[in-house]
Amino acid sequence: MPTILVTGGAGYIGSICVKNLIDQGNEVVVYDSLERGHRSAIDERATFVRGDLGDRTRLDRAFAERSIAAVMHFAAYALVGESVEQPELYMRNNVEKGKILLDACRDHGVRAFLFSSTCATYGEPKEMPIHERLPQLPTNPYGESKLLFEKELWKAEEAWGLRAVALRYFNACGADGDLGEDHEAETHLIPIVFEAALGTRPKLFIHGDDYPTPDGTCIRDYIHILDLASAHRLAMESLLSDRGARSRAYNLGVGRGYSVREVIEAAREITGREIPVEVGPRRPGDPPELVAASDLARTELGWTPEHSDLDTVLRTAWSWHQRHPHGYGD
Ligand code: UFG
Repeated sequence: MPTILVTGGAGYIGSICVKNLIDQGNEVVVYDSLERGHRSAIDERATFVRGDLGDRTRLDRAFAERSIAAVMHFAAYALVGESVEQPELYMRNNVEKGKILLDACRDHGVRAFLFSSTCATYGEPKEMPIHERLPQLPTNPYGESKLLFEKELWKAEEAWGLRAVALRYFNACGADGDLGEDHEAETHLIPIVFEAALGTRPKLFIHGDDYPTPDGTCIRDYIHILDLASAHRLAMESLLSDRGARSRAYNLGVGRGYSVREVIEAAREITGREIPVEVGPRRPGDPPELVAASDLARTELGWTPEHSDLDTVLRTAWSWHQRHPHGYGD
């Protein structure tokens, strides 16, 4: 079985993909600085190298641990609001440091690369659902940084034969057993809903209810992290088996959107709790609706989301938040 190097393997999506890869019989080297990830989220069966993406010496050490067949690159800053306030942080971390990782791949002979990209690279498209051929016009520095790195991948293909898949996630959510969503300064809807249900947060603010949607709140396409993990595994298998494959990008969503109010209502039913809510102003940069067309991932990778109905998403997340009311506690 191949060895995969996973950057950001201590983060929310990375840690769950690591577990999934190891369960399928792969060897994994996790490379993570633990700046935003959690040590206890790293699968004990993985080899762990603690290091920053910008540290080429450490990276070389990680590549030398085993013969690496492919890289999955999750490590990134991923907060839209923070990116608006500190765009240079996002360019440095998500683009410049990512380029150091690409150089290391080239020098260590690694040609298969999977990248965590985002629907934020599309900005506010006029067409819904969003397919991969729509123009990428990000409206915030986070989306811009992910788009710039995608372009680095396409350039690396031309320059030295890298074969990359960019996976453009819609709204990652849900939990897998003891692995769940815990960000410092949480901004994501579902964890915040459950913090309000548990009382660890006094209430939830709806960021605007005057959008041009049926109930006035924003609509998102929620995709369970186990379905993201299976897409990563399939994309990696296709990169490693099909030597003639070209680099490409896939949207990962289910093609069905839920409004903020629909999510809150479903969470009230599942938790049996009240969940105090107040309507506040719009959050800058929030598009009214983001729903994926992901036919390409389904037809080309054979991907079928199996865990992304709202009920499963919320039940797995609620179970995790009840057992980890203070997250990973580090
Ligand atoms: N929301 C609230 N109240 C909250 C938190 C969120 O009303 O306390 C709303 C947001 O305004 C938005 C929806 O819930 O309408 C979903 O918000 P999230 O923050 O959970 O997710 P986003 O859609 O903003 O962000 C996701 C990813 C980002 C990615 C972005 C692309 O988490 O990484 O999609 O738009 F960049």
